Amino acid sequence: MPKIAAIPGDGIGKEVMPLGVQAVEVVAQRHGLDVDFEWFDFANVEYFQQHGQMLPDGWQSQLGGFDSIFFGAVGWPQVVPDHVSLWGSLLQFRRQFDQYVNLRPCKILPGITPPLRDRGPGDVDFLVVRENTEGEYSNAGGVLFEGTDRELAMQETVMTRIGVDRVMKYAFAQAQKRRKKVTSATKSNGISITMPYWDSRFEAVQSDYPGVETDRFHIDILAAHFVQHPEWFDVVVASNLFGDILSDLGPACTGTIGVAPSANINPTGEFPSLFEPVHGSAPDIAGKGVANPIGQIWSGAMMLDHLGAEAAGREIETAIDDVLRAADPQVLTPDIAGQGTTETLGQAIIDVLRKE
Ligand code: NAI
Ligand code: MG
Repeated sequence: MPKIAAIPGDGIGKEVMPLGVQAVEVVAQRHGLDVDFEWFDFANVEYFQQHGQMLPDGWQSQLGGFDSIFFGAVGWPQVVPDHVSLWGSLLQFRRQFDQYVNLRPCKILPGITPPLRDRGPGDVDFLVVRENTEGEYSNAGGVLFEGTDRELAMQETVMTRIGVDRVMKYAFAQAQKRRKKVTSATKSNGISITMPYWDSRFEAVQSDYPGVETDRFHIDILAAHFVQHPEWFDVVVASNLFGDILSDLGPACTGTIGVAPSANINPTGEFPSLFEPVHGSAPDIAGKGVANPIGQIWSGAMMLDHLGAEAAGREIETAIDDVLRAADPQVLTPDIAGQGTTETLGQAIIDVLRKE
């Protein structure tokens, strides 16, 4: 019986989480999979106000025994600065649970008008695989001579062979299950030490996957190609910083941020993996009951995939497609041109899952 830790977090995370949990429970039950959710009330602003930290001491042992973490969103910048809330929670999970792959599907869904002209469902369907533990986001560095004329700030990029190879291998393995193509994001013309290293590891790893086609682009033109030729891509592998940017740009090219899911994966299974919508806590709409729950629900499908229940995951994706294709304005949330609520949209998807 998979044990799942549900952590809603802040803002709309609290509003979309119950629908995500319900969707997973309904579909899992129909597939004879007994999922057991336990809810945790940390990693949010109220917890921080009471305890002066985002997570309890010993959170690793509280969460370490779960099969997965289902996460909402964290952040309430009026009260806690974002670097404190994010570094104090989500980034701790990613690092300490060695979730070295960040996965983001980028796909145009039916009924959603993408910002790219003349593209529709089926035209754009790729996966961004971001390195999630090292690279440009290292804490090697510091500030010297602070407050003087000599003030100096530096932060080093760290690429290890283990870290680079394992994320690339993960990308190739994903491509083998898809359209068998991997694109590498580089910048070896400007970043002249770590990026040529990244390229050399890409060449070494690709030789183990002769059936997979490859190409590579410098990050600047790659960003342009995401907009102009998104159909070129199947799996795109990138360092932490480049992957961060591409994994926001990709979903942005397919429609609204409210529907985009993501996974932070520890492929070895030594630690739980974490599944969360791409969006944040959206303070501007929090409390109004209008947040789009699809990002959370689709993240639940990715979680089921990871737990080995792929058929159940596909059913969630199909149910999302069905409800979007029906395009009932009373059901859809305002961000996708409806007049409905989190509840009407979430329940419509759950109703389809019950009937399937
Ligand atoms: P955000 O994603 O929360 O919101 C950006 C815009 O998209 C807002 O206008 C919001 O209303 C809209 N939006 C987001 N999700 C939506 C949904 N499900 N349905 C309809 N509209 C939606 O990003 P923002 O405003 O930059 O950050 C707000 C807070 O969230 C900050 O504290 C930030 O640090 C945090 N954050 C947390 C993330 C996480 O937990 N993984 C990711 C991104 C931001
Ligand atoms: Mg980002």
